[in-house]
Amino acid sequence: MTRKTALLIGATGLIGNELLKILLKNDAYQKITVIVRNPLGMTDPKLEEIVTDFDELDEALINFHVDDVFSCLGTTIKKAKSQEVMYKIDVTYPLKIAQLTRKVGARQFLFVSSPYANAKSRTFYTRIKGELEDEVMKIDFNSITIFRPSLLLGKRQEFRLGEHTAGVLFTALSFLFVGPLKKFSGIQGKTVAKAMDKAAQMNQEGVTIYELDQIEELGS
Ligand SMILES: NC(=O)c1ccc[n+]([C@@H]2O[C@H](COP(=O)([O-])OP(=O)(O)OC[C@H]3O[C@@H](n4cnc5c(N)ncnc54)[C@H](OP(=O)(O)O)[C@@H]3O)[C@@H](O)[C@H]2O)c1
Repeated sequence: MTRKTALLIGATGLIGNELLKILLKNDAYQKITVIVRNPLGMTDPKLEEIVTDFDELDEALINFHVDDVFSCLGTTIKKAKSQEVMYKIDVTYPLKIAQLTRKVGARQFLFVSSPYANAKSRTFYTRIKGELEDEVMKIDFNSITIFRPSLLLGKRQEFRLGEHTAGVLFTALSFLFVGPLKKFSGIQGKTVAKAMDKAAQMNQEGVTIYELDQIEELGS
């Protein structure tokens, strides 16, 4: 069997870093390329790093052939400081990667979105996630897989007070999040990463959307 190649963006983030470790161990892949703005500071025989400003993606990815593309890119409005910058990171960059890689033959695109993603939403965050979903779905990948996790739990390099507090509360009160309330509970970044890797090996055709409970099931 020919071993595949993968491209990952967001490799330094909570989900992305877990996914990188999983992909490097997965024998289905012979090479994992990450695009980062700062060096990862690690080496692995299967790892290739492209360090670039994401405004220069066209040049960085000229004729870059890859099979599976994973996007865990994103930011918060607090970090981005403006909706314009957040839009660029959450929508423009992943979409550009999708378009550039498909042009040279990528087979599948898997990315993290958000619950309630909807291009018509009045809320900026869910609206831009919905826009990304809609735009990626216009690209003729053999397979597009969208993950809509809830609040992400796990160790971050940076401290996010709001998410940390919510994470502590959600974990302590997890017994309350059953039935229809389940969609409001948190999920470990590692579980999402495992689900992304598993989905990529399923050779699905067309568009597949995983909501929280399906991500839990696939990634556990
Ligand atoms: N947080 C939640 O509770 C939650 C819930 C549902 C969905 N999501 C979505 O899930 C996805 C992954 O979330 P996460 O919490 O794992 O992400 P994260 O830890 O915040 O990591 C974000 C990644 O994006 C990269 N990035 C940010 N700004 C960039 C820029 N200007 N240029 C290049 N790279 C940039 C970061 O790289 P650097 O290390 O270089 O900054 C990092 O690799 C995101 O799309 C997020 O919106 C999050």
